Amino acid sequence: MKRILLIISLVTFCFNLNAQTMKKTLVAYFSATGTTEKVAQNLAEVTHSDLFEINPETPYTAADLDWRDKNSRSTIEMNDKASRPAIAGKLDNIADYDVVYLGFPIWWYVAPTIINTFLESYDFSGKTIVLFATSGSSGFGKTAESLQPSAPNAKIIEGRVLNGNPSKEKIGEWVDSLEL
Ligand SMILES: Cc1cc2nc3c(=O)[nH]c(=O)nc-3n(C[C@H](O)[C@H](O)[C@H](O)COP(=O)(O)O)c2cc1C
Repeated sequence: MKRILLIISLVTFCFNLNAQTMKKTLVAYFSATGTTEKVAQNLAEVTHSDLFEINPETPYTAADLDWRDKNSRSTIEMNDKASRPAIAGKLDNIADYDVVYLGFPIWWYVAPTIINTFLESYDFSGKTIVLFATSGSSGFGKTAESLQPSAPNAKIIEGRVLNGNPSKEKIGEWVDSLEL
């Protein structure tokens, strides 16, 4: 009898351990000019995550991205915190993921508003969202705080600005340091 109980506890222990270590992860990213995309691809490889590109329904042209132009699309969107650029394509299995790495370029010191569109398109309740970004030089500033209302029941973690196309090894070290 003791032996049977021992086997049952062992099986339960292994099952729990497996459930904990087998967390399913997603890397979702928006990249206007390809810099964040490279990091996202490496991150997905390192973490064995599924990869989803947040594609704008209307792609951004070079003129749209001109931050010096007060009338460019990006300037207009970023000046209007209520703007929600439409996304082409949808994920149909968001419920499967426990952890979502969410990547984007820093625009005007925060996340592009299409990231708000993404967060408001799904229910992230109970999930952990780890932010990563690329930028000219800025850090996250108030990015995490400003995204929280778009995913009120998620735990948003300010991850890291991963500039300079870091190696997979460096990305792996960062992921390990998160202790998720
Ligand atoms: C509209 C716009 C605004 C930007 N604002 C900032 C900024 O506030 N700080 C910064 O360091 N870089 C800024 N950048 C530079 C981008 O964050 C940087 O080039 C990024 O790596 C681009 O990533 P992507 O190629 O994935 O789109 C901005 C770029 C654009 C197009």
